Amino acid sequence: MTQTTHSFPIEAVRQQFPALQRMYNGKRAIYLDGPGGSQVVKGSMDAIYAYMANGGANLHGSFPSSRETEAIIAEAKEAAAQLLGAKAEEVAFGANMTTLAFAVARALGRNWQPGDELVVSELDHRANVDPWLTIAADRGMTVRWIKVNPATLTLDLDDLDSLITDKTRLVAVGLASNAVGTINDISLLSAKARQAGALVAVDAVHAAPHLFIDRDRLGADILFCSAYKFFGPHVGIAVIRKELFAALQPYKLQPAPAYIPDKLETGTQNHEGIAGIAPAIRFIASLGSGDTLRAQIHSAFAAIEAYENRLAEQIRTELARMEAVTLYQAADDVAKTPTIAFRIKGISPQQVCEHMAEQYAIFIADGDFYASTLADKLGINEDGGWVRAGLAPYNTAEEIDLFVSGIRKLVQGL
Ligand SMILES: Cc1ncc(COP(=O)(O)O)c(C=O)c1O
Repeated sequence: MTQTTHSFPIEAVRQQFPALQRMYNGKRAIYLDGPGGSQVVKGSMDAIYAYMANGGANLHGSFPSSRETEAIIAEAKEAAAQLLGAKAEEVAFGANMTTLAFAVARALGRNWQPGDELVVSELDHRANVDPWLTIAADRGMTVRWIKVNPATLTLDLDDLDSLITDKTRLVAVGLASNAVGTINDISLLSAKARQAGALVAVDAVHAAPHLFIDRDRLGADILFCSAYKFFGPHVGIAVIRKELFAALQPYKLQPAPAYIPDKLETGTQNHEGIAGIAPAIRFIASLGSGDTLRAQIHSAFAAIEAYENRLAEQIRTELARMEAVTLYQAADDVAKTPTIAFRIKGISPQQVCEHMAEQYAIFIADGDFYASTLADKLGINEDGGWVRAGLAPYNTAEEIDLFVSGIRKLVQGL
């Protein structure tokens, strides 16, 4: 079934998200905080419950619940590989993306020397910056920054030749900004990195619920995401290209497995959380069609993108008409996730969010969202950062109307 924007099965989607039934102050809750963490699909909750209710276990046992645990983890890795265009043996789980990024940076850093260079970006969430800054400080390396243009909210890719050189060991960049939604040209960056012999680490945490991801097309040697952003539980995911992963020496307990991908997974994993990953990915796939899970995921993202972009345009257009509102969005011809950052003159982002929650049960977040380099550059950090409206496929046009009219009334009352 090919979905058009208007045939998006919104009611069927909403029925699968129990949290959408929540009431607050006598009103149905509206979640516009997807970029901070999406709501969880029921299939994922059921799997988490079933894992624990049927008897959980640790690995490597010769008894049913242990074997089942191993099968559940293997299924989750296969599903994550299908989501990202990788192989299951390249997928490692961890507490969250940030923890995995620190572990990967420390492991890679063992082979880096003083004078080697790393490239990070001003647009990124600090989770794909500070692990690299930390290892650079430890190893006496130089860090170079890809600048963000504060006027266009895009990365300045003009002087890549001077940024990425044969001294560069790794380029760390986000696929999409979790603050302003700008989607970056990763293929261009990874082609430059490849020419220079540098690795590429892509933070796909914000992009994963919105875009079809093909690890190889992006040219990512390392790709990170987090299941709680795409309708699943709080589990971080790292995908590392096989040859690189095989050579990687993560810090680990000596008797722990030395083979991929387990060697990156320190201690006992969050088995119940991992049980919720494959159902979240199958939920995404259920919105598409095709003979394989990967094909279904591909076509599902076409439907999700069309649906979410229509709602996002509704917000952008309406907010742009309000004089007191400043929108922080790249130009129309720049691809963006349905993530809309803005400020209202005369009222702090925190006050806006509190008002929207108390008056309309609209849950929406404020702050710098750890995109603090960009917020600092824009000079808005000391002023409370942004208000960020982030869409998910369970949001409706009616919810957007309520949101826009709530902001309009707020602005009119100033
Ligand atoms: C773009 C981006 N990268 C990284 C992270 C950090 O992910 P985690 O919470 O899994 O550590 C986030 C979380 O908000 C994010 O939006």
